[in-house]
Amino acid sequence: MDPVAAQYEAYPYPARDPADEAKRLIEGSPSHPAEIDHFLFGGRRDWSRPFRALIAGGGTGDGLIMLAQKLVERGTPAEITYLDLSAASRDVAEARAAARGLSSIRFVTGDLLSAPEHGEFDYIDCTGVLHHLPEPDTGFAALAAALAPEGGLGAMVYAPYGRTGVYPLQGALAALTAGEAPAAQVKIAKATLKALPKTNWFTLNRHVGDHRASDAGLYDLLLHARDRPYDVEGLVAALTRAGLSLVSFTEPLRYEPKLYLPEGLAKRAEALDATSRAALAERLAGNMKVHVFYAAKTPRKPAGMTPEARPRLAGISAAALGAEIGRKGVVKMERDGLSHALAVPRGAGPLLALADGRMRLGEIARARRLDWIAFAALWKPAHEALTGFNLLRYSDGMR
Ligand SMILES: C[S@@+](CC[C@H](N)C(=O)[O-])C[C@H]1O[C@@H](n2cnc3c(N)ncnc32)[C@H](O)[C@@H]1O
Repeated sequence: MDPVAAQYEAYPYPARDPADEAKRLIEGSPSHPAEIDHFLFGGRRDWSRPFRALIAGGGTGDGLIMLAQKLVERGTPAEITYLDLSAASRDVAEARAAARGLSSIRFVTGDLLSAPEHGEFDYIDCTGVLHHLPEPDTGFAALAAALAPEGGLGAMVYAPYGRTGVYPLQGALAALTAGEAPAAQVKIAKATLKALPKTNWFTLNRHVGDHRASDAGLYDLLLHARDRPYDVEGLVAALTRAGLSLVSFTEPLRYEPKLYLPEGLAKRAEALDATSRAALAERLAGNMKVHVFYAAKTPRKPAGMTPEARPRLAGISAAALGAEIGRKGVVKMERDGLSHALAVPRGAGPLLALADGRMRLGEIARARRLDWIAFAALWKPAHEALTGFNLLRYSDGMR
């Protein structure tokens, strides 16, 4: 058996207990439908229309369950296909779906290279998979071929610099664990980690923690038989070869060099094209472990700031955020060891307080007695900061 297939039979990833579905829904990126709408459908998709989705390399089902659950709650007629090589992972994903009574999912055990045989999809989720394929280009191409002309892809691939130390340690462990069964490999890895010198780059990289979460996490991070990271340029080139174009990273502001440079140098970076700017930001930040992004066959832009756009905050209360910005004039967040403080005019606070999905931007402007120009002057910095960190999305019909 292929070593990657064997790994996911022994350690379905991520480790999940179907009984936990009674307690919580795991939400993340990509594949939250409001996020899909924002990045791929201009925030204007009609969610009463059928939605065909493929979850390629769905693992134990995090993306699958979130998407299926949200579509059921919205009443969207959904056809969802789950495709994964690993029967053990499928068992977990299937049990999670059953625990929630989600019946719109077709489960398939197979290779994602067969994606086009399973239909034509409005959306494909492929998270943490392409970088494990023997020939990732064939995977990108298969997914592109399975997309409907106006469809889009939400995906995650590993990134090199934030994973500093991972690859030398993978090499060291490969030498130490050769010929051992997965459980014995985990034991050897744990003993090696305990003794690792303080000079080792993995020891020094404080931002990688998957190995502490579970044995499946440890195996995935350090014992993987096949795992190649993509830097920004490598990712854009792979998408281009497959006939796909990058729509956006889910946290686009992290890919702007101005976040990491003094003003004079930031101006210099502005002259670069978008890919070169993102590549520069990746090299300056040093903390990107993954790239989460949306791509499509037909080029497009994420939803923008128009009077018809319906803003929705991701996991934050509009009232609380509005009050905080009204008081402090700043949005703060932390990502992979870096703190960011972005200035937003205090006057945007009362506008954000109304961004709970009930009103469109034009309606918020009217409610606060502002014409569009005055409204936009306040809203634009909030838009840039919050969409920049995936905290604000525009979706007319999806919460
Ligand atoms: C790291 S897990 C990610 C699971 C899930 N997408 C997530 O993000 O939670 C990678 C998954 O890809 C699957 N996989 C790897 N190569 C595959 C292939 N060629 N075809 C289908 N699935 C594959 C593995 O079985 C595993 O379940």
